Amino acid sequence: MIEKRIDELIKIINQANYDYYTLDKPTITDQEYDRYMQELMRLEEENPSLKREDSPTVRVGGQIIDAFKKVTHDVPMLSLGNVFNESEIIGFDERVKKVVPNPKYVCELKIDGLSVSLLYKDGKLVRAATRGDGVTGEDITHNAKTIKSIPLTIKQKIDIEVRGEIYMSKKSFEKLNASGENFANPRNAAAGSVRQLDSKVAASRNLDCFIYHLPDPEDYNIYTHEDALRFMKELGFVTNPNNKKVNNLKEMLDYINYWTKNRPNLPYEIDGIVIKVNDLRDQQKLGFTARNPKWATAYKFPAEEVLTKVKDIIFTVGRTGQVTPSADLEPVRVMGSVISRATLHNEDYVVSKDIRVGDVVSIKKAGDVIPEVVRVLKERRDGTEPEFKMTDICPICGEALTRNEKEAAYYCLNPYCDAKKQEKLIHFTSRKAMNIIGFGDRIIEDFYNLGYLKDYDDFYNLKDHKQKLMELEGFGEKSIDNLLDEIEKSKNNSLERLLFGISIRHVGEKTADILARNFKNIDNLMKASFEDINDIKDIGEIIAKSVTNYFNDEENINLINKLKKHNVNMSYLKEVNENETFFTNKTFVLTGSLENFTRDEAKAKIEALGGNCSGSVSKKTDVVIAGAEAGSKLKKAHDLNITVWDESTFINELSKY
Ligand code: IVH
Repeated sequence: MIEKRIDELIKIINQANYDYYTLDKPTITDQEYDRYMQELMRLEEENPSLKREDSPTVRVGGQIIDAFKKVTHDVPMLSLGNVFNESEIIGFDERVKKVVPNPKYVCELKIDGLSVSLLYKDGKLVRAATRGDGVTGEDITHNAKTIKSIPLTIKQKIDIEVRGEIYMSKKSFEKLNASGENFANPRNAAAGSVRQLDSKVAASRNLDCFIYHLPDPEDYNIYTHEDALRFMKELGFVTNPNNKKVNNLKEMLDYINYWTKNRPNLPYEIDGIVIKVNDLRDQQKLGFTARNPKWATAYKFPAEEVLTKVKDIIFTVGRTGQVTPSADLEPVRVMGSVISRATLHNEDYVVSKDIRVGDVVSIKKAGDVIPEVVRVLKERRDGTEPEFKMTDICPICGEALTRNEKEAAYYCLNPYCDAKKQEKLIHFTSRKAMNIIGFGDRIIEDFYNLGYLKDYDDFYNLKDHKQKLMELEGFGEKSIDNLLDEIEKSKNNSLERLLFGISIRHVGEKTADILARNFKNIDNLMKASFEDINDIKDIGEIIAKSVTNYFNDEENINLINKLKKHNVNMSYLKEVNENETFFTNKTFVLTGSLENFTRDEAKAKIEALGGNCSGSVSKKTDVVIAGAEAGSKLKKAHDLNITVWDESTFINELSKY
């Protein structure tokens, strides 16, 4: 009798959940739902032996685990490649079209949560796991069971794995923070909730889940992504109602534009649009790169402010010895990369903004610029945030710092400070200096610590250690050869790169260029007096003094001599032309329609800066400027690996002159 009633209640509640979450069409009131749940809970309490494992009462939580078990995914959980603007979207479409002539896509909202794999055996949820590193995740079944939009039992008694995104609605997030929690954004709140040992906590957080991926569609005779979504919905999963099949690039861009505008009206956060090739056989033809499927991509919305929390304020030493505070942040995704650091510039900046450890702050990132703290949400403080205090010793070597009042900056003046030396080596290889590609900060740090790199000339000695370097973890013959090739190439750089690379105080990229242009080679510059340098237009006393000091120092002279022995070029190689611009003597092709210019206007701008315009794309083309609905010319540009600018890049380049 009681058993029958329990079965009946479970059926009613499961159906109500399905109607509410999957179909978005509630059939009973919240009060009725609560009454059924209470009756079921009472019956289970009175008859513990009759409690079913898949009873919806597990949703209230209660299971506490000791630790998270590791889970290995049968099919790795890949992440998606990213595109950031229209021409990159077109590029994705072109790449697909090379393999699949007339692709159809499904566009989906990119839900800002954390991905989850759900495993059902015989129609019952048996395991939920986080993505982890894609191969191994964590078992979060106890918490997933508390999420009402994740069915405990599905409509068919089958074995199946589905994947989707656990997220927290904007409303639940606000409520949670109003209750005294202090999460930076809904994604962090969702991730934090799922990583709780006690499922009562997750249950109280009101999480949700959209399902968007079926890893083994053939097992169910499914051949399009659209059908996979339909099938998963029929089984009782919640799929996003705004998913849409699109038949061509234009419809895809319309979808993206629509949701870029309407995203604030959604009850949950999205951070982009996911585009997936619809036909699963086409997907198979396209395959994967090492990390991402080639049949899908994620368009990421442009920079915006994102909220996160300051975990700590740390101090770093730059190549000049300047000690700079930076914020160590709770990681957040901005513009396709995960940010966990933001520069705080100097003491005055932190004090004037009153940034403190524990603060919720808004950060912004544009392009490859270092992210910045834009504003502090002081109303989110709980009174425990300590006021900022600048350090007075070097965090690396312990030397007492000296404050330079004019710059509001603190310096470590110890010439032997390791941090300074490493930063200088990193700078030497950087793009605008010697442009030695392949050296990340970590490699330089490692080579420095192993004794292979002490000063700039050591880069050119590395070839003598090739055998040893190849034995280092993470390196092989090929990667070392590439690195050594890049080092060799750098010997041919024009002088200004070297002058910028060797970190003479006050000599930035522009000054290095002026010095190189005026003195033509390093010997002339080394011989030059303070007056000679000071006389040059755009060069002042501070720079003139710094340069003469630099070349009066014996150690620096030795260094230059060593570099000379390695045949590093020390002359200015650029043609001297005051009016030269990026556009000078380059060939441009305009295609698609531009929003801000007519074709003729764009052409006139290019020609005014010394460029030429051509009607067709060939190997001789330097840049293709692609407006909306660019077609075959854009494709050809991609085929020939020619630089493509979208309209905003074009405007940006024009604005430089
Ligand atoms: S598809 C192989 N669809 O975005 C296909 N992902 O890097 C795997 N995401 O890790 C993902 N909404 O956490 C897909 N509609 C959606 C999504 C989505 C959000 C997340 C997911 C994934 C990341 C992409």
